[in-house]
Amino acid sequence: MSNFKFAVLISGNGSNLGSIIEHINEKKIEGSICCVLSNNPKAFGIERAKEAGIPFEIINHKHYKERNDFDASMVEKLKTYKPDLIVLAGFMRILSSSFIKEYRGKILNIHPSLLPKYPGLNTHQRAIDSGDKFHGISIHFVDESLDGGPICAQSKIEIGNSDASQLKERIHMLEHDLYPKVIDLFAKKRLCLKKGKVYLDDKQIELK
Ligand code: GRF
Repeated sequence: MSNFKFAVLISGNGSNLGSIIEHINEKKIEGSICCVLSNNPKAFGIERAKEAGIPFEIINHKHYKERNDFDASMVEKLKTYKPDLIVLAGFMRILSSSFIKEYRGKILNIHPSLLPKYPGLNTHQRAIDSGDKFHGISIHFVDESLDGGPICAQSKIEIGNSDASQLKERIHMLEHDLYPKVIDLFAKKRLCLKKGKVYLDDKQIELK
């Protein structure tokens, strides 16, 4: 059994967290979740952590005036779990540079668009409104730019006649499949970030 352990940061439903838990249970991720951290005390993802018997922490950003103080609190708490990786899964706060420095090269995020297209919110509607043929997801290492860090994996679907809510559902299916695979690659040290570049099996990959 691998000693690799990671923290999952959430703000809401946590369906990605649910899929990650399933993949761990099915031994499709070589590692375990040491802690689920939510900034939102009402996030449904907390229930998923509870049910799976995973330690969880709630740090409500509303109790902090400054983002730096909120982030410092998260770092302090996370350090007690010694995570090898931080997985952002629907975590709706922008991380400060001090947090990123602490875990550089060890933070993954999933974003519901084919980055660099549509950073930020409302990506499904924006893809439809732009008349795009394809829409998809990106998993990337987190740096100081908003949804702009080096991309490690993408997956896409044809938009067809889907409206925004159908698209959201279809996109979630892609996410639930791809995120666990990427986490497993990182856990197996097959995927890493070196000097700002993504390497898979020692070969540099450039998805942007
Ligand atoms: C996902 O679409 C993810 O790409 C985005 O937030 C959503 C989170 O969904 N960052 P869930 O909480 O995992 O269900």
